[in-house]
Amino acid sequence: MVIAGGVEPQIAEALAAARAGLVAASDVDALRRVANDHAGKGSVLVGLKSSLGSIVDIEARKATGRAINEAMQSLEALVAERLVALERAAAGHAAANEAMDLTEHLVRRSRGHAHIVTQAWERLEDVFVGMGFKVAEGPEVETDFNNFTALNMPPNHPARSNFDTFFVKNGEPGSALLRTHPSPVQIRVMQEWDLPIYAVMPGRVFRRDTPDATHMPVFHQIEGLVVDKGITFAHLAGTIEAFTKAFFGSEFTSRLRPSYFPFTEPSAEFDVRSANGKWVELGGCGMVHPNVLQAGGIDPEVYTGFAFGFGIDRMAKERHEVADLRDMYANDLRFVRQF
Ligand code: DAH
Repeated sequence: MVIAGGVEPQIAEALAAARAGLVAASDVDALRRVANDHAGKGSVLVGLKSSLGSIVDIEARKATGRAINEAMQSLEALVAERLVALERAAAGHAAANEAMDLTEHLVRRSRGHAHIVTQAWERLEDVFVGMGFKVAEGPEVETDFNNFTALNMPPNHPARSNFDTFFVKNGEPGSALLRTHPSPVQIRVMQEWDLPIYAVMPGRVFRRDTPDATHMPVFHQIEGLVVDKGITFAHLAGTIEAFTKAFFGSEFTSRLRPSYFPFTEPSAEFDVRSANGKWVELGGCGMVHPNVLQAGGIDPEVYTGFAFGFGIDRMAKERHEVADLRDMYANDLRFVRQF
């Protein structure tokens, strides 16, 4: 039998136990469970409340009822307060987890990056696209016709020996080869694209060279081709100069020196003056030979054009001051990770 006065300590005890449980609950689910144990059906406080009727003295019954209500209210307030705190902590936890994910992501990203040849290739494309050129690519296994004959090097032309290369068994013997330059893509573009043409053609090329500090049998070049009405040598020189400034920086300049290539007439080699005043030879260029325009299906009486070509690996080598080209292909991560 419960009597007034005897209940107060039980309320205090139930309240203390409930508070301790709520404070100890480490997540929202645990909090709900503890709240139910101490203030839900079957809890000590609810039990005391339902036995209020057994308190005979009215004043004592009222006082006890008030005490139980106050205890319940204070528990409710504590539950609400703990709920906010736990939710905030959970959100903080999630944020911390995300932050860790990000770190992992950064660590993973720093594990690899594009090879310096790829970097140079992509930058070259960017600069030329910025100047209004489109990018074209052709196959690495080419026809003898596109690689030589169409470029004004018919069979037995002496210039062919400069490009001694690997032939591939495909069709007529000697008709398919690993291309020695991306210049055959000029022919493909002239045959396939609408005029006028403003194209750059990057790609992998092959020569029968023994590897040394400045040669590799497999390397990369980028070719340029412009065909339009009224194109002159001045456009070629201006384009080379604009490219030089855009790619290397405004303090750089270019020059053209007379040279010979079968596919251009007149032909030139172009050099770039680096920051230390040294001239570095970059590549070849010239006005597209009328025979080449004709091989591409273009009337040289109506259209003229210029072309240029240079090595991408050499650009990377110059830019990063790599002493030996072979280091760029040795697959040594200690080398690759420097850039
Ligand atoms: N194809 C030449 C080479 O591999 C480079 C070249 C020179 C390309 C002059 C051209 C050019 O388009 O006009 O050495």
